Amino acid sequence: MSEPKTTMEQWLERARAVMPRGVTSNFRDWGPHSFVIRRGEGPYIWDVEGKRYIDYRLAYGPIILGHAYPAVVDRVSEALRDGNVFAATHVYEVEAAERITRMVPNAERVRFSNSGSEATMHALRLARGYTGREKFLKFEGCYHGAHDYVLFSTAGSIPAALGDPHDPVPFQAGSGIPKGIREYLVLAPYNRIDITERIIRDHAHELAAIFVEPMMGNLSGIMPKPGFLEMLRALADEYGIVLIFDEVKTGFRMGKGGAQPYFNVQADIMTFAKALGNGYPIAAIAGKAEIMDHYRGGGITHAGTYNGNIAGTAAAAATLDVMEREDVFGVLEKRGTALMKGVDEILTRFGVPHKVSGVPAMFGIIMSDEEVYDVRTYAAADKELYRDIAFAAIKRGVMFDPDPREPWFLCYALSEEDVAETLNVFEDAVKEVLTGRQTVVAGGLLDQSAS
Ligand SMILES: Cc1ncc(COP(=O)(O)O)c(C=O)c1O
Repeated sequence: MSEPKTTMEQWLERARAVMPRGVTSNFRDWGPHSFVIRRGEGPYIWDVEGKRYIDYRLAYGPIILGHAYPAVVDRVSEALRDGNVFAATHVYEVEAAERITRMVPNAERVRFSNSGSEATMHALRLARGYTGREKFLKFEGCYHGAHDYVLFSTAGSIPAALGDPHDPVPFQAGSGIPKGIREYLVLAPYNRIDITERIIRDHAHELAAIFVEPMMGNLSGIMPKPGFLEMLRALADEYGIVLIFDEVKTGFRMGKGGAQPYFNVQADIMTFAKALGNGYPIAAIAGKAEIMDHYRGGGITHAGTYNGNIAGTAAAAATLDVMEREDVFGVLEKRGTALMKGVDEILTRFGVPHKVSGVPAMFGIIMSDEEVYDVRTYAAADKELYRDIAFAAIKRGVMFDPDPREPWFLCYALSEEDVAETLNVFEDAVKEVLTGRQTVVAGGLLDQSAS
């Protein structure tokens, strides 16, 4: 007689019967490890079998305050009683835009969209329309969403297929993208200042935009080298190119003002989504009035039925209100620093080559002792070891993404006790995996058995 199916298996079977591979984004397909969620609250999620996890995936970053955060849920519920979308400006839109202009340097004007991909698509058109040029510079290893223009040489690229860094070869992320579209793309290797400078100078007069993730939010939180962002700013000024910071992951996460104040480098246009609305569908294109004011009928097109929808803009207004009134970023800094130090200490004790990169609110663990500064050098990292540790931790109730390119995200609701529990679980997971591999450095295990 066959075993009765678990609830999880039943849900996965239902999901797979109606959605390709049971998911609505390719990235959520974990094959035999896929799972179905029932609910979330604060820093926790529960699956359909009632198992609780401390969540560091946080929906790929947007949950900055916590799941179902009361101040946001209350404001959205109240707002929705009066309708959810109107073909006109709404009071919540004005409030959310005012808060953004107050919090973010150079955000003199704001337009709303619904997802990060929409925001980057619109920002690219804005730069093209403003400059009258068609190409844009993209960095290898950066991800700017799921539209055709930007799905090249993302963090999922195979380094061996990228060509020489002086003359990068586009690596297309999957089928279905028109061949001609890569004609609009100029590629450069992240953090390679001399090479990038030469590439920009060679293409300067055809570049509408330099598009960059100010830190590599889709590649383990690799940070920009000193001088890298400054060089982009200087060349953008020299050649009249629009510098776009894609802050879909860094915005309202690295700090109130995002990456510009953090790195002390100014951008012309910024794209936001994710943390802006604590996970509700909302995105923004923000920037200098001189450029943004070209959005108008007969000028540069920006449109969308759901732009400024009430759930999204009320959520943004409520989320930014909490950020303006409470020490959200101080708490994230404290908890994240403790986690970064803790995982670093555990991996060092067990003799695992690694480095911890990024910032406390969003950090990555790279299993390598080589210098890693872009998608090419990232090839040296031991991704299987990381993945095994992640699955051992997930089994114990701590959920970080088994794909090491995806950083750990923290939320304001995470407590000191959650951090302590996470580090205990992380240590047990590392121990289990290394024991399995029989590669434990004696000191690590001996220390443990003595305690
Ligand atoms: C830097 C960056 N830009 C754009 C996007 C696309 O955003 P969305 O998934 O909301 O379309 C992402 C998504 O992860 C991102 O990390």
